[in-house]
Amino acid sequence: MKILITGGKGMLGRTLQRELAGNELVIADLPEWDITDADAFTAKTLAESPDVVIHCAAMTKVDDCEAKRDLAFRLNEEGTRNVALACKASGARLIAISTDYVFSGEPPREPWAWSETDIPRPRTVYGASKFAGEQMIQMILPDAVILRIAWLYGAGGPSFVHTMAKLGVQEGPALKVVNDQRGNPTSTKVVADVIRFLLSHPEVSGIVHGTCEDQCTWYDLTVELFRLLGLKREVVPCTTEEFPRPAPRPRNSALKKSVLNLLGYRTPRWQEALADFVAAEFGK
Ligand SMILES: NC(=O)c1ccc[n+]([C@@H]2O[C@H](COP(=O)([O-])OP(=O)(O)OC[C@H]3O[C@@H](n4cnc5c(N)ncnc54)[C@H](OP(=O)(O)O)[C@@H]3O)[C@@H](O)[C@H]2O)c1
Repeated sequence: MKILITGGKGMLGRTLQRELAGNELVIADLPEWDITDADAFTAKTLAESPDVVIHCAAMTKVDDCEAKRDLAFRLNEEGTRNVALACKASGARLIAISTDYVFSGEPPREPWAWSETDIPRPRTVYGASKFAGEQMIQMILPDAVILRIAWLYGAGGPSFVHTMAKLGVQEGPALKVVNDQRGNPTSTKVVADVIRFLLSHPEVSGIVHGTCEDQCTWYDLTVELFRLLGLKREVVPCTTEEFPRPAPRPRNSALKKSVLNLLGYRTPRWQEALADFVAAEFGK
């Protein structure tokens, strides 16, 4: 299969390069490929004529998006529109990566996880721009797959897991970590496995949630990471208010994998995926 990966040099893109290496890959990233240049992107896509486009390119720094709203929408909405138009012109199947941040994070009750049919209400510029990109895809290419993922970490980072692993080996006072935000930590390897499943099921279209099973807080994730790494630095839970950020983080953005489960596919629990990652990345 010929697969074009936008943002192919990013954290997820690098894992996809490794995990999908048995296919013919086209790595479409800056500076040669720019998703904001509609004409050039379509011309290059037509020239390559891929079977599938996996769209990872995005403005992903959540706090930067708050400060640079226009740029966030130019990349995440208009750039995604351009990728969808190029797929329509070339006949490629589109698998576009989106995010748990499309949801408000305010669950109607606990315990809660958002399903593919729940209505997004993003509270950040990042989430709003990614949701606008989803809507572009649904208008232009209703047969596309929109794969929502969350709390991502992968080889080389940057990610929360890498930041904590670095802090964990430093001496200092107890680390305060937010314990009132819930989500599904997910490795890029798990996302690559989900994408491989989707590639073998060309009939699947629409919104698909593709995170690890089970939910936890950032504090839970750090405690488990330190246990796996054998780090002794103390970790203490804190509230969101103690750790203010420019973009308000969702209180609960855990995702229900209704579509994958209906198809008989189960992602691993986040603890298993983290253990696999720690072994591969840190040799522990
Ligand atoms: N990271 C997470 O926690 C997370 C969570 C949920 C969903 N996601 C989604 O998952 C996808 C992949 O995330 P990631 O963490 O792998 O992101 P990433 O590491 O930031 O990779 C994004 C890639 O896109 C490239 N890019 C930026 N602007 C571009 C443009 N105009 N044209 C072409 N390429 C461009 C970037 O290049 P430069 O580095 O040169 O800018 C980078 O190589 C994104 O769609 C993101 O929204 C991520």
